[in-house]
This record gives sequence, C-alpha cells and structure tokens, in this order.
Amino acid sequence: MYQPVIETKRKILTMEKLLIEGGHHLTGTVQISGAKNSAVALIPATILADSPVTIDQLPDISDVQTLCQLLEETGGKVTFQQNTLTVDPKDMVDMPLPNGRVKKLRASYYLMGAMLGRFHKAVIGLPGGCNLGPRPIDQHIKGFEALGAKVTNERGAIYLRATELHGARIYLDVVSVGATINIMLAAVKAEGRTIIENAAKEPEIIDVATLLTSMGAKIKGAGTDVIRIEGVRTLHGCRHMIIPDRIEAGTFMIIGAAQGRDLLIDNVIPQHVESLTAKLCEMGADIQVGEDQMLVSGRKSRLKCADVKTLVYPGFPTDLQQPITSLLTQAEGTSIITDTIYGSRFKHIDELRRMGANVKVEGRSAILTGATRLEGTKVRATDLRAGASLVIAGLIAGGITEIAGVEHIDRGYDHLMEKLQGIGAHVWRESMLESETEENLKDQD
Ligand code: EPU
Repeated sequence: MYQPVIETKRKILTMEKLLIEGGHHLTGTVQISGAKNSAVALIPATILADSPVTIDQLPDISDVQTLCQLLEETGGKVTFQQNTLTVDPKDMVDMPLPNGRVKKLRASYYLMGAMLGRFHKAVIGLPGGCNLGPRPIDQHIKGFEALGAKVTNERGAIYLRATELHGARIYLDVVSVGATINIMLAAVKAEGRTIIENAAKEPEIIDVATLLTSMGAKIKGAGTDVIRIEGVRTLHGCRHMIIPDRIEAGTFMIIGAAQGRDLLIDNVIPQHVESLTAKLCEMGADIQVGEDQMLVSGRKSRLKCADVKTLVYPGFPTDLQQPITSLLTQAEGTSIITDTIYGSRFKHIDELRRMGANVKVEGRSAILTGATRLEGTKVRATDLRAGASLVIAGLIAGGITEIAGVEHIDRGYDHLMEKLQGIGAHVWRESMLESETEENLKDQD
C-alpha cells in the first residue's frame, strides 16, 4: 500500500506560504534528488511490465505521489519507502481516468502511451500542470495514430483504441520530450519496428529508454535524434536507479552563484548542466567541476550581464530560464532572456518587478537592466519554476520575502526548504491565513 510521508500529506491539506529572510551567505553541501521529469515517465512505464519494477532514488515530490495514487487507482500494488518505489503492475486494469488526479499534472499524459502499449486502449483526461501558455499534444497523438490507434477527444478526455499496435516511421514536426517518450512507451510492445525521427535528446529520454531496456525492450539511439525500437511481446520487472535532477542541480548552482560561498552540489552529472555552467562562468561566477559534484561560489566582484536563449537539449533549458532571471537582476548591464520553447513563460516577471527588478517583457523575451537591489515583499508563485525564481530572488533580497503558491514548488522540488536550511538559508513555512488562502485559490490558473 502506498504511504505518502506524513509531512507531505500535511502540505496538501493546509495551504502554506514560504518565508525567506534574504542576504545570508550559503555554504555547505546540498544533495540533489532524482530527476522529476524522469520520475514522471518512469512511473507510468512500470505499467508495461508483467512483474514488479523497483525504482531507486525517486524524489519525494507531490507529482510522484499523484502518479503513485493513479497507479493504485488502476489496480497496481505500490510501495514507496525511503525514495524506493516498487510497482507490481500484474493486476492493473484499463480503467478510464477522465477526471480527478490526472488533471493535477501534465505528465499524466504518459499514462496514454503506457496504457495503450499494455491494454491497447486508454481514456485519460487532458493533462494539467504548469500554465506556460499553449501546450498542445498533437505530436503525441500523431505518434499514437501512426502506431495504429484511433484517437478521439470526448468531453475533455482523450480516448485511445487499437485492435493491434504496429511499428511505424514517425517524424516529429516539433522536437518534444513528452511526445518522444510517449511514443516510445506505446511502441515497445508494438508489432515490428518503430523509428522516431527528429526525436528529443534530453537525458530523461535516455533514462526512460534504460528502464525499458532493463524490462526487455529493444531500443537503439535514445539520446540522438533517431530512435529505433523493435517491438517485443512481453516486458518483465527489473530494478532501476533514476538519474539526478539536472534542473534541481541547476537551481542550486544559480543559488550558489547568487549567495554561495563554496557551495558543494553533490550528485550531479556535470555534462547535463553544461549550458548553465558556461553561462554562469560568462557572468563571472566561480565554478569547479568534479566527477559528480560542482563547487560554486558567487560574486567576488559584480556579476556581468548575459543574454540567455532557451533551446532543446543540450541548449539552455527552459526550466532554468525563470531561475536565472532572478540572478541576472544582480548583473551589471542589460540582459535579454528569450524563451524559444514556451514563449509566455514569464509569469514571474511581474513578481520580480514588485521586488524591485528593472525588467519588462517584449514578445518571447524579457529585457532586464541591473544591477538592482531586491527588497523582500509578498509575491506569488504561479508555476513550479516561477516558484524557484522567487525563492532565488528571496535569498538575494533584503528583508523578508513571502511566497504564496508553495504547492507549485512542492510538485517538483524535493524538500527544498530543508535543503536550503541545511546550507544556512533563513527560510521557513507558515500556514496561510484564511483570507490569504482564499486570495491564492481565487488567483489559481
Ligand atoms: N509541443 C507541440 N506539440 C506537442 C508537444 C509539444 O507543439 O505535441 C511544443 C510545446 O508547446 C513546446 C515544445 O513543443 O513549445 C516543447 O514541448 P515538450 O513536449 O518538449 O515539453 P513537455 O514534454 O510537455 C517537458 C517537461 C517540462 C519542460 C519541457 C521542455 C515533463 C513532465 N515536462 O514538457 O518541464 O519544460 O519538457 O524541456 O517532462 C518543468 O519541469 O517545470 C516543466 C515544465
């Protein structure tokens, strides 16, 4: 039986805000957890096996809990203890999931590929998740159809039905992490060969392919833009260790560049954060790269401004665009931050302005002039990485920053408050007053 940790349960029941007293130097070691964006695909992938699958080092975040609950709803036996998850998918059924928990996270779309692969049918409500502007899933659907599924949208839920799945050649019009993984999930048990062209190359795709391969799938080319899959009849249980979270590591690298004094980031694959390392060095941060650690120290002199353009991997990740914007408020000169993946991922900008940042949005870019002194005030996280950006701003700012919308941060950062406290940050949570909770809910996307 899946048992969420008591503390996380509390977070869901009461609305809380995060408070930060900024300006303190941060030092010591921070341990990076397993990758959220791998976890949310690895968990649905377990559906495809016919015996128990164990995944080690999963992050303790609410997106993981939600997916575990969804697997239980469909008949899976789930245990999650000390970051190790075991799923016995034997008795799972093709239960429709048109509403409820699937709406809580975007990654519930991976249930489509996994259930289609196992049962040849699925009904999944259109996914929720961070509101970053339009987030279509047309490439996922194009892939499922190419594999032989009939896909319809009925009253806000996607219905997938196939008599049999067969291999196909699929060219993705847009490089998409989600579509690449979802097509892999559906194709590993399809009859014959599937080729995904213009596939995404993110490390999370390699991680999912590694799990599927350990389960008996035949996949070649994951991590390149052409993935070849030879369908197999059955997949079996296995044990898998998830990769470290490059976005969490990147968030702490930015924190280190802002306030760090020999901040050691442990359990990171340096190659996964190369684009960020290069950018932080360009700005003047001091970074030493080890085998699976990074030592980051911040401003000995003024940081330099820099332009940032988000791109697919190995380019600068969109998920670190909002966090690095907070750091750029401390850099001398004008920086231009352009998001080519999500052109309206700028909901944090108004909040940063409240704190004193000199920044405006024009089209897909934010134009920022620094350095400005940030002052703590009441702000609201509208999405996960906006939350990370406000946490960084709060650590830099003078006075106390109060961040509402903490539930977005809990979706993707494992014990962020405790990790920050461990390196010397003055950060704590408080329950929101009833009036504040109402205000927060009223403003929810
Ligand atoms: N796109 C389409 N059609 C599709 C799929 C995507 O037009 O069918 C577009 C999207 O609108 C976007 C671009 O393609 O402009 C890339 O989207 P992608 O599919 O790669 O994103 P995703 O799979 O939905 C994952 C992460 C996001 C991360 C992006 C980009 C998960 C669960 N989510 O989303 O993570 O920003 O890749 O790297 O893996 C986050 O962690 O905060 C987060 C939002």
